[in-house]
Amino acid sequence: MPEPILQVENLRTYFRTDAGLARAVDGVSFHVNPGETLGIVGESGSGKSVTALSVMRLIPRPPGEIHADSRILFRGDRGVEDLVRVSEERMRHIRGNDIAMIFQEPMTSLNPVFTVGAQIMESLRLHQGLNKRDARDRAIEMLRLVGIPIPEQRVDEYPHQLSGGMRQRVMIAIALACDPKLLIADEPTTALDVTIQAQILELLNRLQEEFGMSIILITHDLGVVAETCDRVIVMYAGQVFEEGPVDDLFHDPQNPYTEGLLKSIPRLGERVERLAVIPGVVPSPIAWPTGCRFHERCPYGWEKTEREEPPLFEIAPGRRSKCWLVENPERREEIRRQTGGFTAKGALTGTGAATPIAGSPDDVVQESGEPPHAGSGEGGR
Ligand SMILES: Nc1ncnc2c1ncn2[C@@H]1O[C@H](COP(=O)(O)OP(=O)(O)OP(=O)(O)O)[C@@H](O)[C@H]1O
Ligand code: SF4
Ligand SMILES: [Mg+2]
Repeated sequence: MPEPILQVENLRTYFRTDAGLARAVDGVSFHVNPGETLGIVGESGSGKSVTALSVMRLIPRPPGEIHADSRILFRGDRGVEDLVRVSEERMRHIRGNDIAMIFQEPMTSLNPVFTVGAQIMESLRLHQGLNKRDARDRAIEMLRLVGIPIPEQRVDEYPHQLSGGMRQRVMIAIALACDPKLLIADEPTTALDVTIQAQILELLNRLQEEFGMSIILITHDLGVVAETCDRVIVMYAGQVFEEGPVDDLFHDPQNPYTEGLLKSIPRLGERVERLAVIPGVVPSPIAWPTGCRFHERCPYGWEKTEREEPPLFEIAPGRRSKCWLVENPERREEIRRQTGGFTAKGALTGTGAATPIAGSPDDVVQESGEPPHAGSGEGGR
């Protein structure tokens, strides 16, 4: 087994707010292997972006702070370094050369007053020490690589002259200009329409093969995960609830939260009258529920789960679930027999508004093929 390129251990990132301490990321551990794509999924507010920004050390301070016990071990040129502890200067170097990040909305990340070429060249000159001429040649090459037609001309255009999909391609070019070992993509296609989404994901896959980098792909679209990722972690309420290879986790979810997410999206090949929903909403990070943080929304919970927080049990190599059902599997079957578990009307114990993870229609009839798709249904490659 190759050594992981990134190993996050017990990451806790808290924000001091007027309303109290927000424990946005609260004890998260995971790893990323060389050359693989790790998906991070979970509902809005589960701590996905804060996890990514913590790895980049881009948490605004104040109000945010990464707890001193957290470890973010990155394997780079200098061996393994703990990114929680390296100097700001070293971190700037790592951000420019080893780890790059792309965001959901490229227009907010691109500078409107500089040409796209100038922005790629700046990255190349700063991090690779290229002279102006070489940087320009390389910028054109990068634009060509990310599928921008007539790059010799586009290199001198401004962001507003490009379409949304083109701008996201430029962002990818900037991110890859420094040949990073790890690329973090936070909802990179959410703002784009379905066909462009598929093209961008296809591009990321192709570039991953070419550059051999690892990718962390953050998305709320389970269809995208199914088609692009090798492994996945499911986050809820600032914690990892389930981890596993994509196929295992999709075909045999062990955690009720994962089960609820999967049941709330249309599954190709299955005819259902109504999709199930996870009742209620993600609780506030200022007041996480006691015991299992999912207990108010979970149909399988019992007294113990309201009182005691379950550990992230290892159920098989590389397969983990944070749930007491691991110790009490009969209960799952019993509740399913009695109530059906997650149902269209919501779980037994939950209250409040239904919140399917990605826009799911009331009546879904789909006839062919695997795997499951969320919302748009065509988000993958
Ligand atoms: N600067 C901040 N100050 C206070 N709270 C913050 C700050 N940034 C994030 N949070 C809180 O941290 C929690 C996790 O936010 P995060 O952005 O990581 O969610 P997410 O899983 O990425 O959701 P989404 O799918 O909507 O992007 C949220 O409750 C959010 O309000
Ligand atoms: S520990 Fe209990 S409440 Fe939490 S997910 Fe498992 S069964 Fe549900
Ligand atoms: Mg986010």
